[in-house]
Amino acid sequence: MASSSSDLLVKAFLLSCIALLALSDAAVAPPTGITRHYKFDIQMANATRLCHTKSIVTVNGQFPGPKIVAREGDRVVVKVVNHVEHNVTLHWHGIRQLRSGWADGPAYVTQCPIQTGHSYVYNFTIVGQRGTFFWHAHISWLRATLYGPIVVLPQLGVPYPFAKPYKEVPVILGEWWKADAEAVISQALETGGGPNVSDAYTINGLPGPFYNCSAKDTFKLKVKPGTTYLLRLINAALNDELFFGIANHTLTVVDVDAVYVKPFESDALLISPGQTTDVLLRAKPDYPNAMFFMSASPYVTGSGTFDNSTVAGVLEYRNPNSSSRASFNSKLPLYKPTLPSLNDTSFFANFTGKLRSLATARFPANVPQAVDRRVFFTVGLGSSPCPENQMCQGPNGTKFSATVNNVSFALPTTALLQAHFLGQSRGVYMPDFPVTPLMPFNYTGTPPNNTLVGNGTKLMVLPFNTSVELVMQDTSILGAESHPLHLHGFNFFVVGQGFGNYDPAKDPTKFNLVDPVERNTVGVPAGGWVAIRFLADNPGVWFMHCHLEVHTSWGLKMAWLVLDGSLPHQKLPPPPSDLPKC
Ligand code: C2O
Repeated sequence: MASSSSDLLVKAFLLSCIALLALSDAAVAPPTGITRHYKFDIQMANATRLCHTKSIVTVNGQFPGPKIVAREGDRVVVKVVNHVEHNVTLHWHGIRQLRSGWADGPAYVTQCPIQTGHSYVYNFTIVGQRGTFFWHAHISWLRATLYGPIVVLPQLGVPYPFAKPYKEVPVILGEWWKADAEAVISQALETGGGPNVSDAYTINGLPGPFYNCSAKDTFKLKVKPGTTYLLRLINAALNDELFFGIANHTLTVVDVDAVYVKPFESDALLISPGQTTDVLLRAKPDYPNAMFFMSASPYVTGSGTFDNSTVAGVLEYRNPNSSSRASFNSKLPLYKPTLPSLNDTSFFANFTGKLRSLATARFPANVPQAVDRRVFFTVGLGSSPCPENQMCQGPNGTKFSATVNNVSFALPTTALLQAHFLGQSRGVYMPDFPVTPLMPFNYTGTPPNNTLVGNGTKLMVLPFNTSVELVMQDTSILGAESHPLHLHGFNFFVVGQGFGNYDPAKDPTKFNLVDPVERNTVGVPAGGWVAIRFLADNPGVWFMHCHLEVHTSWGLKMAWLVLDGSLPHQKLPPPPSDLPKC
């Protein structure tokens, strides 16, 4: 029987009351979402790029891998089954993993790798976060081909703090090797020299027309005149910070690392490995009778070799007057964007200087105003001795190395989090990571003659809820270089940055404690420093490392151990029963 119209009205009224209640509740109660199930089969697949076919490690045979979509408050359950010869782990980059550190993924930090023929279920809830993330392998260099987007939408009924875009498109930047990336890094670690560089950059897995034999592998974005697109940019490249731009189009930056920012316009942007940037692309109001390249090219600060090439995709307009709607009219003029030059560090300073948190009632910037623990890290390169009877290809016949406070971090053969949880840290790690450099020097001046590094598996221990201020200072040892540092388990606020040596007397007076950008990966400027603050409110072992994979391989990594708090909901739960064993 059909309801009467007054019945419907009453029902609609009741429903909207419930919806309103649910909305106001969400602010105080933990969000209650649904559970999203995914099955990731790690398997080999053939891929052809640049006229060369090779077998690559994939999820479900796809490259780039499948997109994970969820809403804020949802639980995500990913069953990963390893069918390949390599050990594998996956990481959900930027997801905070509140009390779910067992699902974070860095190999030998929060878990032992998933061995061939084995599986592991990653199970986590997305609390208080929405935006663009990505997942990637977190062992050796397997993330060269094992990566994909994660899109976390706002809770139902909660709008973006900008006009709703017509469409949303993930744009994932990557790097392509003709060789096997695993062979590239193992050879480099053997010889001590710099690894071979990639052969191409990619947009959504495609190198585009500027490479030999690649024109057919071009990402195309077809847009409708007069509409606005949200591009969810992700830098999944291994070793290169990238400039990005679209010819004849200005982009509006609205979000970085899944945190809204005060919108600003820019013709080009800079995105480091591990960072995401959401931009609004306003399509021209009328059919332009032209096509436009979207390109990415590297930002280079180091002195080593690099992949000096440009990836391009094409922005096409749907011709409203043409019957074959999306037909590719190759006779149209094609414009190229002007990107900043290779070493344009002033662009870096300018662009990152524009990033500000929204800092509104709805999206506050909860910057720790008081600091419990001040920490100073040098980050940079160094060398380690060449083994006897070997010729090494690193600096002056040594091997390249990289450090935080001159400690080149050695991963253990068991997982740090498990060792901590079981009270079995002896022989696995030491809790004595240095709070400041043991031997201070003029960090950005003439480098010391002795560039030898120390090694160790040292953790920095923090009581629950410690508020931390961390200054990271680049060094000029073997060349100043920019380092995109990524912290697992937390977002942090970038309260200050500058060039030269950090001055603890003068620089803090200029810190932004009102609306600093909040993110999970920040570039330590080449020959400069950056200051961040975070609240250690998530118990577990949290990896921090340079997201340039070569530097991580050389030891530019460390881990924080955040202890349990006294209350039940401040403790790390026991590991899941299927946690892989070493
Ligand atoms: Cu995106 Cu520790 O990684």
